Amino acid sequence: MPEDHFAGRVAAGYDESVADMFDPEVVDPIVDFLVELAGDGPVLELGIGTGRIALPLARRGVRVQGIELSEAMVAKLRAKPGAEQIGVTIGDFATTTVEGTFSIAYLVFNTILNLTTQDEQVACFQNIAAHLEPGGCFVIEVGVPGLQRLPPGETFQPFTVTATKLGFDEYDLASQGLISHHYRVVDGQLEVTSMPFRYVWPSELDLMARLAGMTLRERWSDWRREPFTSDSTKHVSVWEKTASLSHP
Ligand SMILES: C[S@@+](CC[C@H](N)C(=O)[O-])C[C@H]1O[C@@H](n2cnc3c(N)ncnc32)[C@H](O)[C@@H]1O
Repeated sequence: MPEDHFAGRVAAGYDESVADMFDPEVVDPIVDFLVELAGDGPVLELGIGTGRIALPLARRGVRVQGIELSEAMVAKLRAKPGAEQIGVTIGDFATTTVEGTFSIAYLVFNTILNLTTQDEQVACFQNIAAHLEPGGCFVIEVGVPGLQRLPPGETFQPFTVTATKLGFDEYDLASQGLISHHYRVVDGQLEVTSMPFRYVWPSELDLMARLAGMTLRERWSDWRREPFTSDSTKHVSVWEKTASLSHP
């Protein structure tokens, strides 16, 4: 099982540390997009966390199941109203199986990058394909690697600089590795967290999808379906299951 980077202090402060991501301005377009794509079918969230997207989806009448590595994140979800409608399986979403098939599976907020090797990311696509109904879709929201903004020879790139928060990414180009370092002042105390990721290009994700019997159906720069262009810093991609391969 991969290491749980969301245990303890991270889970305890997760909702507050990404409070802007819980804003209805952010959440509503995601939920609208997923409701439309899901139709009548049940849906599967990989890395369901504290239920930022799963709970509002369930409130819209969608049957939601989740896979989640971190017991601490699930405990936070379980403490929220409406959580009783959501089934969660503890495990690694690259390999964990859940009973049933789904009209969509989704992986938001850069969470595919939590799988830190190409093999794990490929396994994730194959695992998801095995959970989708024929014609079902896999949706990913993830940043485009920020290498255009990384000067030659540089490995560090800031993403937040305020009086109480400092965040910077540390790139390792040879391994497509990325460590996000977060320094936050909370109640006068400094909290430091470093989390490893593997950055991945849209084209590499398309190939992973193809290996798993899925085909790109849509790619946008956000959940409101703005066009994906050379200037886009993130993408929302939808792959459709077009072939049935044997379970990994
Ligand atoms: C950035 S949080 C996103 C949580 C939630 N989806 C949201 O949008 O707020 C990433 C979540 O994925 C979980 N996670 C990371 N790697 C995982 C893995 N290999 N298998 C299952 N869950 C994983 C983490 O524990 C964490 O809860």
